[in-house]
Amino acid sequence: MKQDEQVAMIKRLLALRETRRDEKMLDDVVHIPVSKYTDEKLLDRERASVFTRYPLIAGHVSMLAEPGSYIASDWDEFPYFVVRGDDGRVRAFYNQCRHRGTRLITERSGNLRNLVCPFHGWIYGLDGTLKGITRSHDFPGVDKSDYGLVELPATEAGGFVWVARDPDTSLDIPAFLGTFYDDLINFDVASLVQYKKTKVVKRANWKLLIKTYLEGYHVPHLHRTTLSRAFKKGVIAYDKDGAHIRLSAARTNIEETAMKPEGEWRILDYASVYYTLFPNTFFILHPDYVSINTFWPLSADETVWTHEMLYRAEDFPGSAGQSALQKRFTFTNDTVFDQEDFAIAVDVQRTLRHGGSDHHVLGLAEGLLAMFQDNIDQRLDGTPDVNTGGRA
Ligand code: FES
Ligand SMILES: [Fe+2]
Repeated sequence: MKQDEQVAMIKRLLALRETRRDEKMLDDVVHIPVSKYTDEKLLDRERASVFTRYPLIAGHVSMLAEPGSYIASDWDEFPYFVVRGDDGRVRAFYNQCRHRGTRLITERSGNLRNLVCPFHGWIYGLDGTLKGITRSHDFPGVDKSDYGLVELPATEAGGFVWVARDPDTSLDIPAFLGTFYDDLINFDVASLVQYKKTKVVKRANWKLLIKTYLEGYHVPHLHRTTLSRAFKKGVIAYDKDGAHIRLSAARTNIEETAMKPEGEWRILDYASVYYTLFPNTFFILHPDYVSINTFWPLSADETVWTHEMLYRAEDFPGSAGQSALQKRFTFTNDTVFDQEDFAIAVDVQRTLRHGGSDHHVLGLAEGLLAMFQDNIDQRLDGTPDVNTGGRA
C-alpha cells in the first residue's frame, strides 16, 4: 500500500469502528459441508489442482543471500530445493540424485559449493549440471550432460522465493498477485531478515487451519487473555484480487490517528494486515514483524505447518533485540497460533471424525472463510488461470 492507500485504509477502518461492524462480506449466512475437511478424494483433487498448478512460496529471499545459499522443501510430497548459482540466478531442482534417486540435500537451508550425493558420491554444480561420476569407467556410454538435475520453475519476487511443481506454470508473480504485489514492494518485504522458521505437523485439515485466521469474531473469546487487548473493538476491512484476500484489522490504538496529520499515518502503526496468498500461504504484516505461514496437506486431517518470522534488522539490535524477538515469536507462534488457534482447529477436526453435524454455519462476519473456500472450489478442475496472470 502506498501512503495515500494507507490513509484510505485507515479511514475505512475508522468508519467501520463507528458502526462496530466489519466491512460487509455476505448477504446471508453460508453453510460449509464438513466433508470439505474430511474427504480424501476431495484432497486428491486439491493436490492435483491448487497444489500443482500455482506458484508456491518456498521462503524469504534473505535465505538465498549468497551464491550457494539454498532452501529445501518442507514438503516430502514435493521434494525440491532452490539454490542461488554463481551467476546470481535462483534455480529450483528436484532434490533427487539422477543415479539412484537419493535425496541430495537433507538440511532445510544452508550454503554449499557443490552437491555431493551421500550414496555414491556423484557431484553436481549449483546450476544442476552433473560434474562428476565416481568410478566413471563403470558407466561406459553414460553422457553426463544427460544426467543433470531435473529443473523446476523458480523465481524471486516481492521478497519471496517462488517455485512450482508443474514445469508449465507461469511464474509471473506481479500478474499473479495483482495489487497485492505492490504491497510487498511498498512494505519492502525483500529487505527483511529471517528470525526463525519452524515446521510442525497438525492433526487438522489444511483449510481448517487457514480459516482460523480469517475472522475477528473469535478474538475476544479464544484470545481473551492474549491478542484481544491489542484488538479491542477491532473491525476488519478486506480486499480481494484474483484468488488472494487481504484483511486489515484495526488495532486498539487506531483512534490515536486523530492526534497526527494524515501525512504521518502508517497503516502498520494502527492495524495488522493479513493475506491469504493462494493457495497455501498466510502472510502477516504486524507493526514490528512479519510472518509467513504455509500449509501442506499430508492427508485430509493432517497438515505440515511452517512459520517463518521476519524482522527489520535495525528494529531489533543486539542481544536485547534478539530476546525481544524471542518473546514475540513465543507469543505469536506458541501461545496464539499453536495453543489457541490451531489447538481449536485440531479439536474441531477431532469432532468431525465422529459424525454429528454435517455442516458449519458461517455468520456475516465470517464471509472471508466462504470466500477462501470458493477460491479453492472454483479452481479444483479445469484450466489453471495462472498462465493468464493467475486471476479469476
Ligand atoms: S544415488 Fe546418488 S550417487 Fe548413487
Ligand atoms: Fe486467532
